[in-house]
Amino acid sequence: KALLDARRDNFVRQSLLSDEFLNFMQQNKKPFDLLMSYYECAIMEVETKFRVLNHELSLEYDNNPIESIKTRVKSYDSILKKIRRKNIPLNLRAIEDNLKDIAGVRVICSFPDDIYKLAESFLKQDDITLIERKDYIKNPKPSGYRSLHLIVQVPIFLQNEKKMVNVEVQFRTIAMDFWASLDHKMRYKKELSDEEVEILQEELYDCARQSAVLDERMQGIRDRITKKQEQETI
Ligand code: GTP
Ligand code: MG
Repeated sequence: KALLDARRDNFVRQSLLSDEFLNFMQQNKKPFDLLMSYYECAIMEVETKFRVLNHELSLEYDNNPIESIKTRVKSYDSILKKIRRKNIPLNLRAIEDNLKDIAGVRVICSFPDDIYKLAESFLKQDDITLIERKDYIKNPKPSGYRSLHLIVQVPIFLQNEKKMVNVEVQFRTIAMDFWASLDHKMRYKKELSDEEVEILQEELYDCARQSAVLDERMQGIRDRITKKQEQETI
């Protein structure tokens, strides 16, 4: 209890919660928690789809394309920050319509080609609606960030209704994910001076380029191994 209180106090302080937001949360606690539970359900649906694909592909190709899957529902703190940043009105409808990454699923693969194969199979499913696709693997961000982002809608079936829920899926290789977590660490270190950040950003950008080359080379090796296997089984 003490720990929870301390965490809540910390949360309130860190996010500089306005009275407006506190009131909103008090008045809408139940529907807000319900909305969050829909995101939890949508994450379960999407995660299961990837587990099924991984299972099928592992039988077919004798290798698991998915290294790991990470999921998260956006924290209250991050939701509030984004509402502020994007000037979104403080009501549940606006939050649901404008924040399309409250439910997040990250699919980590070993090789870039597996990312496209999985994304294609996932999007072919007739209950998945594509809302937005951003390919930062073919077109990396200026920071060097690489990943394939999809915003999709997936239905969840409740007692009396079918509800479409937005989910953001990020596909990365292990190398892309490794890079992004180090980049993330740098971004959120307040102790770093502007000059230090500038130097680290350059260094990180160079690492991103090298890691993209490494991904391609490793994939080339993998392809040669599987080709060899196929020839021997013919
Ligand atoms: P948002 O309103 O923040 O969602 O902007 P956006 O829709 O333009 O974002 P985008 O789809 O480009 O990226 C959203 C997510 O990708 C972020 O929340 C991060 O998880 C990740 N991301 C994007 N760019 C970077 C980057 O340069 N470094 C790292 N580490 N992560 C990034
Ligand atoms: Mg986004």
